[in-house]
Amino acid sequence: MTIMRTAPAGTGLAERVDNALRATVAAELAEARDRTLRLVTPLDEDDLHRQHDPLMSPIMWDLGHIAAFEDLWLTRNLSGLIEFSEMPGLYNPFEHPRRVRGTLALPGLTEARQTMAEIRGAVLERLATADFEAGPALLREAYVYRMVLQHEYQHDETILQTLQLKQGQPYRPPERRALPAGRPLTTAADMVRFPGGAVELGTDDRSAAYDNERPRHTARLAPFWIDVAPVTNAGYLAFMEAGGYRRRELWSDQGWRWLEEAGVSAPKHWSRTADGWTTRTMDLVRPLDPARPVCHVCYHEAEAYARFAGKRLPTEAEWEAAASWDPATGAARRYPWGDEPWTPELANLDQLGFDTAPVGAYPRNLSPLGCYGMIGDVWEWTASDLHGYPGFEPFPYREYSEAFFGTEYKVLRGGSWATRPGAVRVTFRNWDYPIRRQIFSGFRCARDA
Ligand SMILES: [Fe+2]
Repeated sequence: MTIMRTAPAGTGLAERVDNALRATVAAELAEARDRTLRLVTPLDEDDLHRQHDPLMSPIMWDLGHIAAFEDLWLTRNLSGLIEFSEMPGLYNPFEHPRRVRGTLALPGLTEARQTMAEIRGAVLERLATADFEAGPALLREAYVYRMVLQHEYQHDETILQTLQLKQGQPYRPPERRALPAGRPLTTAADMVRFPGGAVELGTDDRSAAYDNERPRHTARLAPFWIDVAPVTNAGYLAFMEAGGYRRRELWSDQGWRWLEEAGVSAPKHWSRTADGWTTRTMDLVRPLDPARPVCHVCYHEAEAYARFAGKRLPTEAEWEAAASWDPATGAARRYPWGDEPWTPELANLDQLGFDTAPVGAYPRNLSPLGCYGMIGDVWEWTASDLHGYPGFEPFPYREYSEAFFGTEYKVLRGGSWATRPGAVRVTFRNWDYPIRRQIFSGFRCARDA
């Protein structure tokens, strides 16, 4: 009872704050699961168990892995520190690479949903006594819950990549939100100039940001120009029609080797018909829309286009400064439009549009510099390899980010239409191999000033 210790005046308040945070976390967990299960409702057992592409897991594996990850971090880990590698065998990504996951003995949907619900029950029970202030570092500010939530959000996007590659009947979304029409941008110029100077990049946030986004640090940038909008289908088609895929001088050595091996001559999911090019998103095939950002291109294609245009890809520091730096306040914004969280009017995120939107469709999706659409629609390739920021500290484990540092991966920024809003911000860093095209990925260009 309170008689046992002298309760400071703030105790009641602290408890109420913790309770409010618990309620928020529980609601976010429920919402995340609701979305995951909604995405898979149109699928039958064959769709769920099939390996639709060597690059992607069977969707049933993603579902089991989402639950196993949650169990690992939100029940077992909170009862005593464990190692990342202690994930149960079937759903341990390091034990089973994606290309073999189609041969694993995965459960049926009913059983999987039951397991997911059981784990969630234990998680909510544990949440009721979680101490967000005095508990272990992972619990502070409820970070571990945000980590698990973002993991589920990210797997939802992975599932959508799989569904775009689906064999058999194309995926028919359970609902499809109408996307706004494109509008002319307020600036008439194609590029804007960043004056250069000292900017703050990254974050010190401990409530949701990943270790690789920390610490906040100052970088000095030379002046540069950057595209106001992501490269559109029209722009990319011009590159193709100018022989972009055949002109050796536009490609890096590595890019040319990829091109010779892949033998492609258009972005993934484009088809040439008698009437011109069409694109496909899930079950929707339509004539190429010149106003939408080009999607499903790899880093090498982005780089070749940039060379064709007399430009280059931005570094991730340039990208982040262009997306967030506000010279008027001398501070970075959390999102291009400001610090307020995403709403459906602000940017094309959150999956249910099931497509990119034409450039200009979200007039408020502008950074202080005047760059449009830096959050949403397509992930944007940058010129940068993935490295730790100065003063980087792995948290909670090396496997989170540090194991991927080096020259093998290129950083992508900004999220796509298939990204859940809780999984993206201007400091968020995604990374992948430069040859990957199953990602909802596009790009914009920059050049030296
Ligand atoms: Fe995962």
